[in-house]
Amino acid sequence: MNRMLITGGAGFIGSNFVHHVINNTDYHVTVLDALTYAGNKASIESVLGDRAVFVHGNIGDSELVDRLMSGTDVIVHFAAESHNDNSLNNPRPFVDTNIVGTFTLIESARRHGKRFHHISTDEVYGDLELNDPNRFTESTPYNPSSPYSSTKASSDLLVRAWVRSFGLQATLSNCSNNYGPFQHIEKFIPRQITNVLSGIRPKIYGTGNNVRDWIHADDHSSAVLKIVERGEIGETYLIGADGEKSNLEVVQVILDAMGQPTDSFDFVEDRSGHDLRYAIDSSKLRTSLDWRPRYTNFEEGIVATITWYTENRSWWENDKRSVEETYRSRGQ
Ligand code: NAD
Ligand code: DAU
Repeated sequence: MNRMLITGGAGFIGSNFVHHVINNTDYHVTVLDALTYAGNKASIESVLGDRAVFVHGNIGDSELVDRLMSGTDVIVHFAAESHNDNSLNNPRPFVDTNIVGTFTLIESARRHGKRFHHISTDEVYGDLELNDPNRFTESTPYNPSSPYSSTKASSDLLVRAWVRSFGLQATLSNCSNNYGPFQHIEKFIPRQITNVLSGIRPKIYGTGNNVRDWIHADDHSSAVLKIVERGEIGETYLIGADGEKSNLEVVQVILDAMGQPTDSFDFVEDRSGHDLRYAIDSSKLRTSLDWRPRYTNFEEGIVATITWYTENRSWWENDKRSVEETYRSRGQ
């Protein structure tokens, strides 16, 4: 089992995973990616070659998917429309890629009898109160809030049903908020870092009291690889690194690390339906597969991420003006 098909491998987490797999294993990798606005081949260019090839295509293209499926041993499925704000403005691509695209992949995987790993999000569980002592576990009921999270929840349920009804050899993982290199600048942390680098004040939705549970993308990758290699078929694993922070705290860490006054940000229009808090209990993954995160110091991880965006301006600079224009038109 050493041929891996990685969908969405030119996106943020997918590209970090491609680097992780090439650097830490002997898998031969095929990346399937449609290169939407969120995909960037430059993120994996340095590893393409003997052990990694790139195929430009859509996960909804069943002929292409069938052809790639027959030449692989395991599929790791990252491809998705991933941004909540976009899903509020135009949900259609989320239904097409996250639901119908996942359906196309699992139909093909079951026909070919291939091992499948589905990447999902903690947002399928809805949100928690700020003072709730409980965190999400594998048995928390599904209760998604946004068009994005409801399409991810739908895809999870499809995968689970294919395991039970058709014996699909699949595992699932639901992870909390990722940060690190190669993240699109529409997302919270890279938006604020590139704002400061562009002379724009960071923008915080609503009160800034919303809490996210941050994990470095490389820790997400190491967890996924463990699940792919040692996870039990049919099981779901929650991935998290005990990194709860309010949005206000995150912006202050970024401003401080970039030598700016920690109050030089603006409050802007809140997100409709904005989830209040996510928090993951990853005990199952830690106990049953002996996984631990490496990036346990958030401030150090943020400094490394700031350094990456500072040294790789050509990777993001062309998109900055249009991303900010879109946000401005929404009052954000
Ligand atoms: P991203 O938006 O950065 O990347 C998505 C990638 O998928 C892009 O390269 C894009 O071109 C590709 N893609 C989109 N539609 C496609 C299609 N129809 N066919 C082929 N390729 C297509 O997303 P991300 O943040 O890297 O998220 C990756 C996965 O991880 C998603 O499934 C997401 O739900 C999940 N996830 C993300 C986070 C997070 O914090 N970003 C946390 C937990 C789970
Ligand atoms: O929890 C996992 C999820 O994390 C993934 O499934 C999603 O794909 C990923 O995008 C992320 O979703 P969020 O909506 O939590 O991430 P986002 O980066 O869009 O926003 C993080 C928080 O910051 C959220 O509370 C909204 C807020 N925010 C966001 C932006 C872009 C701001 O305050 N200001 C901003 O400019």
